[in-house]
This record gives sequence, C-alpha cells and structure tokens, in this order.
Amino acid sequence: MPSSLDIKNVVRERYSHAAQTRVEALCCPVEYERRYLKVIPAEVLEHDYGCGDPSKYVQPGETVLDLGSGSGKICFIASQVVGQAGRVIGVDMNDDMLALARKHQRAVGDALGYHNIEFRKGRIQDLALDLERLDAELAARPIDRADASLAAETFATDLRARHPLVADNSMDVVVSNCVLNLVDSREKARLFREIFRVLKNGGRAVISDIVSDQEIPEAMQNDPELWSGCIAGALTEEGFLGGFAETGFYGIRLVKWNAAPWRTLQGIEFRAVTVEAFKGRQGECSDRNQTVIYKGPFKEVLDDDGHRMERGRRQAVSDRTFALLQKAPYRESFEFVEPRTAVSAKDARPIDSEGARQRHLTETKAEHYNATSQCCEGGNCC
Ligand SMILES: C[S@@+](CC[C@H](N)C(=O)[O-])C[C@H]1O[C@@H](n2cnc3c(N)ncnc32)[C@H](O)[C@@H]1O
Repeated sequence: MPSSLDIKNVVRERYSHAAQTRVEALCCPVEYERRYLKVIPAEVLEHDYGCGDPSKYVQPGETVLDLGSGSGKICFIASQVVGQAGRVIGVDMNDDMLALARKHQRAVGDALGYHNIEFRKGRIQDLALDLERLDAELAARPIDRADASLAAETFATDLRARHPLVADNSMDVVVSNCVLNLVDSREKARLFREIFRVLKNGGRAVISDIVSDQEIPEAMQNDPELWSGCIAGALTEEGFLGGFAETGFYGIRLVKWNAAPWRTLQGIEFRAVTVEAFKGRQGECSDRNQTVIYKGPFKEVLDDDGHRMERGRRQAVSDRTFALLQKAPYRESFEFVEPRTAVSAKDARPIDSEGARQRHLTETKAEHYNATSQCCEGGNCC
C-alpha cells in the first residue's frame, strides 16, 4: 500500500483538479430530488462526485455534519431539508473544494431566505483538528527546525482539546457521500470512532460509499490512481457494516444497495451502497420487569448487544433495551409489554442473563395470572 503521505497527496491533488475542472465519471452518477436542485448553482452540480444521496434520510430541524463536502451539493440539499431551525456543517480538507463551496454559500442562503450552512477545513479521520487555525499558526511560525515541528504538534493537540473543529456529542446526523473510501485503510478505525464521537446519543450516521464484493488485492491497493478514484480504499460490504458494529453503533442496515456495479475490475464488483447506523446503546441497564415480543418474520434475531429474541416469545429485557427497541429502526418489529406494576428506577434490580430469559407471566400479569391459569387441587398453581 502507498504511504499515508502518498495517499493524502494523491487524493488532495486529484480533488484540487476536480474542483477546478469537471471530471466525468469520477464517481457514479446519482439522481437527486429535483426540487432541491433549483437553488443550487450549476457550478456546484457540475462538480458532483457523489455515489448516493444520504440527504434523503435527514429530518427537519436536525444538525447535520457532511464528511468530505466537496462542492457543497449535499450540504445545500440538506440545508433545505432541515430548514431554518436546522444547521448543516460541511467538512473537507481540500482548499479548492472549500473555496468552490463557499463561493456559492451566500447565494444559496439568500435564495432560501436563511443561512444555516458552514464549511470547515478538516480531515474526517481527525474531526477535532481545525486545519484553518493550524494553517494560520504555521504561517506565523513556519516549521524550519525539529523544535518548531514539536511545537506545532503541541499546538495541534491543544487546538483539538480547546477548540475542536467538531465537538463531542454535537450532531444529530453525520452524512457522507463517497468519501470514506478515500481515507487511508490504516486510519479507517479512527474515522469510525470520530463519527461516533461527534454524534449525540440517539444520533445516526447515514453514509453512501463505494464498497467491493471481495477483498481488494494488494497490487490494486498499491495503485495511487485507484486510490483517488474511489477503488483501492473501498471497504468490502461486510467490512463497511462491520466498521460500524466494531465501533459500538447499533441498528446498522443497508438502506440502499445498487444492484448494478459501478465498476468491475479483475472480476471484483464495486458498487454504491448507503448504510444507516445509530449511536446510543451504551449505558447502565437494570431490570424493571419489562418485556418485549419479537413479531417475526424470522425465527429469531440477535441484536448488537448479543440478545437473542425468538419470534413470539415473551423476552425479559432491561430498561435500556426496552427503550432502545421502541425507537427506529426496531420499533415495528416488536410488541412492548409493561409490567402490571411499574418498577421505579430506584427499585430496579440488576438484570441477569438478558437475552436468554423468558419473562414469566407472573411478572407482567400478576393476579390475573392465577385467574386464567389452571390451578391444581389445594390451590398450588401448576
Ligand atoms: C469523491 S469527492 C465527494 C465530494 C462530495 N461528497 C460529493 O458528493 O460530490 C471526495 C471529497 O472528499 C474530500 N476528502 C477526501 N479525503 C478526505 C479526508 N480525509 N478528510 C476530509 N476530506 C476529504 C475531497 O477533498 C473531496 O472533496
């Protein structure tokens, strides 16, 4: 694989060029909703290098972060979806792309009647580091000796802590359109962790990207041209979904899988997909006698915490799982049974073997249970 520096340089050069010239088929063409394109200048649309439309999954009023915002198209669409009450932040590391997006920012806002977009300079695998502030520091104190390089590192560490480009737990949705594959494979795990860090609890990532159906051979990974062309750095389908799971996301699903490959190289199919993943399954859990029933159609399912739910079975779950399953994307698949007598948080017990225990009817039906079950002689219930 090329060095990290080589990958960075080849991606930077390719997209500086792509910001200035229209490059055909740099990524796969996408049909965006026409009503949102009316206010977007032609120059922005001509520099569309996306492979999906994650803005479709954004809601009014949300705060949205777009990773690798390029000419700004997804931000300009998302701005209209979230409306005046929402906010949109685009992050890109390329000065030429940022200049192109910023050039049209005011005109789009004026046409909409509100301004809710910002474009910030940063690397998406290091979303705490504000590269414009670092540029300013390095312009004032150029690096000409080892001491200066060490001082710049300290400055960057300090910047991340005191003035993060994107703060912890600040975003409702993180979207991205055809950018994750451009990040060095050695930094992909960090990239997933950064997406997780900046999302609010209960927030979600909706990421469109190119994936492969087989592992990419080393010779292909070593080709810088294929790196900047959205091929060499593509994750496999499994690796893409697995990246979210390993980082601690839940409810991960393919919301779009393009049947037709975008390109086929050496028999390997590269296609566009869109994945949705949620943050917020971490935290304390206790037993408050709550029960869920998995409705099917599968015989059983396994959630991201390892809880196995059998179709039609009254499953004892913790208060955390009970709350989580009532939200998207799970709620349609379950019935929710509260205990007959509510158990307060104060009286909740530790839960044992969640995901393996059936909730006995006595815990939810209490006295009605005796009335409906057959009792043996002498009053002892069977
Ligand atoms: C294929 S283009 C996609 C642009 C845009 N999302 C769209 O839909 O047209 C990739 C963009 O990601 C940016 N990019 C690539 N790697 C990046 C990184 N590590 N951090 C920030 N931006 C990056 C490039 O500068 C370029 O603007």
